[in-house]
Amino acid sequence: MKAAGIECRRALDYGRMGSVIFELKKSYIYFSKFFSMSIPTTRTKEDAVISINVELCTGCGLCVKACCSDMLKIENGKAAELYGKSVFNCIACGHCMAICSEGAITITGRTMSPGDVFDLSSAASDATYEQLMSLYSRRRSVRKFNQKTVESEVIEKILAAARTAPMGLPPSDVHVLVLHGREKVTAFTKDFAQFLKSMKYLVSGWFLAMMRPFWGKATDEMFRNFMRPLFDNYIGEMEKGNNYITYDAPLAMYFYGSPYSDPADPIVAATYAMHAGEALGLGTCMLGAIHPFIQRGKKAEQFRKVHGIKYKSQEGLFVIFGYHDLKYKKGVKRTFADETFA
Ligand SMILES: Cc1cc2nc3c(=O)[nH]c(=O)nc-3n(C[C@H](O)[C@H](O)[C@H](O)COP(=O)(O)O)c2cc1C
Repeated sequence: MKAAGIECRRALDYGRMGSVIFELKKSYIYFSKFFSMSIPTTRTKEDAVISINVELCTGCGLCVKACCSDMLKIENGKAAELYGKSVFNCIACGHCMAICSEGAITITGRTMSPGDVFDLSSAASDATYEQLMSLYSRRRSVRKFNQKTVESEVIEKILAAARTAPMGLPPSDVHVLVLHGREKVTAFTKDFAQFLKSMKYLVSGWFLAMMRPFWGKATDEMFRNFMRPLFDNYIGEMEKGNNYITYDAPLAMYFYGSPYSDPADPIVAATYAMHAGEALGLGTCMLGAIHPFIQRGKKAEQFRKVHGIKYKSQEGLFVIFGYHDLKYKKGVKRTFADETFA
């Protein structure tokens, strides 16, 4: 029952069209030269503006090399904007600002401003591969937490780390719902269990018999042998006071996107948050079982509204955090299904 999330997502994940459109949109930036438009997000639908200070520019050309949108050229020994070549104009990736040691180029718009560049710490303070591997190997999906509350400063650190995650196209259209405190997490979960109860017809005999000719044997088996017991377990145990959904964690974060975002973005951000939580001494567990249920239909819309979830999105993931109640003494070796070197 504990691997419920993964399987549940598999059962409900039937709409991949969004990601196809998004990937086409990305390829389009690089290959088409005939149109010029900005990429819409929930945060901005405008192009960014490039400003070049020719007094400061040394004409080194690094910004031209770094620009992923072909927006720049060297003209008369200085960086200059190259009009008409890029499809989507400046997407505000910020690479030109990050590569210029003179501060000669700035980007404004698409949520970016010149103040968004900062000095990097020395590469010598980066985590080594061995340090990362030590953190990754120690991590387990934690479902038992002690009573300690997760401090607000720790939450801010997790969010700061997760904000550095890459996104399909900037600016990130990832939204985060933070449930801080055991009471909030439990209240949310009780409401979710109630919501699931109202959808129990999805695993009823008459509904499955009706759907069998449309969705085939494998899905029928999945619903009868996995989804039905899952519903019973989640709802029934919650009614008995056993939280097998969010495990009475003292902190939960829900990473979700929007109809505009790359479906993978919230998953990448959630992974960063999980690792940040681990580095801060917390136990973490990703939960895939909630997101798919709260996407479609009027009841799901109402649930999202009540809980401050602003958009439905193709992918989304909960991560729970808390201080450890158990200490694992050994790691567990994991493998991929396949690693083919083509
Ligand atoms: C995308 C994803 C969704 C998951 N969903 C759930 C879930 O809903 N409930 C749960 O108890 N564990 C969930 N897990 C945790 C896995 O079951 C866990 O990773 C697995 O048991 C392996 O254990 P380990 O992470 O300690 O190596 C999820 C993990 C991932 C990566």
